Amino acid sequence: MMLTPGLRFNEIGHLTIEGLDAVSLAKEYGTPLYVINEKLIRNNCKRYTSFISDNFKAGSFPCYASKALSCLEIYRVMKEENMGVDVVSGGELYTALKAGFPSERIFFHGNNKTPDELNMAVKNNVGRVIVDSLTELQTLNEIAIELNCKVKIGLRIKPGIEAHTHDYIKTGQIDSKFGFSIENGEALSAVKTALNCSNLELCQLHCHIGSQIFDTQPFADAVEVMLGFFAKIYSETGIWIKELNLGGGLGARYIDTDSPLEIEEYLTPVANALHEACQKMNIPEPVFHIEPGRSIVGEAGTTLYTVGNIKEIENVRTYVSVDGGMADNIRYALYKADYTVLNASRSSGNILNNATIAGKCCESGDLIQEGVDLIKPEVGDTLAVLTTGAYNYSMASNYNRSLKPAMIMVNDCTHRLIIKRETYDDVLKNDI
Ligand SMILES: Cc1ncc(COP(=O)(O)O)c(C=O)c1O
Repeated sequence: MMLTPGLRFNEIGHLTIEGLDAVSLAKEYGTPLYVINEKLIRNNCKRYTSFISDNFKAGSFPCYASKALSCLEIYRVMKEENMGVDVVSGGELYTALKAGFPSERIFFHGNNKTPDELNMAVKNNVGRVIVDSLTELQTLNEIAIELNCKVKIGLRIKPGIEAHTHDYIKTGQIDSKFGFSIENGEALSAVKTALNCSNLELCQLHCHIGSQIFDTQPFADAVEVMLGFFAKIYSETGIWIKELNLGGGLGARYIDTDSPLEIEEYLTPVANALHEACQKMNIPEPVFHIEPGRSIVGEAGTTLYTVGNIKEIENVRTYVSVDGGMADNIRYALYKADYTVLNASRSSGNILNNATIAGKCCESGDLIQEGVDLIKPEVGDTLAVLTTGAYNYSMASNYNRSLKPAMIMVNDCTHRLIIKRETYDDVLKNDI
């Protein structure tokens, strides 16, 4: 049975998370409940920051991709761990600022930032705006002129490498809504346009090659392609771009057969590729940034549910229905994402094979997982879905006027509420 770090079964057969009985947590806070392992998150951050400060140029740091999980407390943790953060909307930026996150370590992404969002970013002196289109270059320059300031920017580049889990392609990949393609010349022309913008300072080139990647080669290839592009820019303009940002993408373990790389295993070949390419091409080493999301918070999350009913349809399947579903975890309904589901109330007993874990939303596709083997649950048992720290709460909705669950942080046998459960009045608060 797969368990994520910090999870065990105790002597009474209950799942524990960082030493805390999951069944007791479910009783105390109610379900569904997002349980976030703070210790694991902090440890992951430390591994990223220390490897990067030891192996890359001074000034390099990792930025947590906060789209994976955004709330006040996570930005406070990131601040304490000396991370940067990546935000992709006014809402994420607002949350980071409200949490007191230092604005100069915020990188602002997005393929269609609104003028209001750009204004907000400039007024709050975000560290970098990662520009995604020529329209944005122009709008941002106009805003900077109006506010009489110089804005530090990056450009989102399509390096022609696209990777997901085990396989990747090294071809055009021009067809993406994000960024400027090297292959068809639009990236070079965007660089030249950016260099001519009076109130923008082009500091960084950025790429993001995919998510849930288990292989180092696509990252090493991306480094080489990007640095080749740095050299091309120099030969055309006489300017060296100072920073390389490789985006996110390192995978997390959702099921037994997943084998994500350790953080250091992933970063070592990236560092080697960068050092070697700089030597080979005789180019100055850039400051290095990455934007891990899933690999920092994914395995740190466990969602607890209560079983409400069990429907055995003879010769068809058994539905185990829980008190949450696609409103708090859309990923199975969206793209059949794999998850490990455990009976947190029992560590032994008969196995229920091939169960379908269903949510309570009015939608047949509202499933958490199919084909699950778990210790036969009874109504009232607590079920745990593992690796729900990334892209679960951040993708949650109020479908069926579902209340967004509470979130707690656990660390060394302590627990604290960091997001309150929504109330019916919360759901009504903007209705007129
Ligand atoms: C620009 C950018 N940076 C970082 C990330 C985080 O990726 P991951 O959670 O796979 O590390 C994403 C994910 O979509 C992204 O688009």
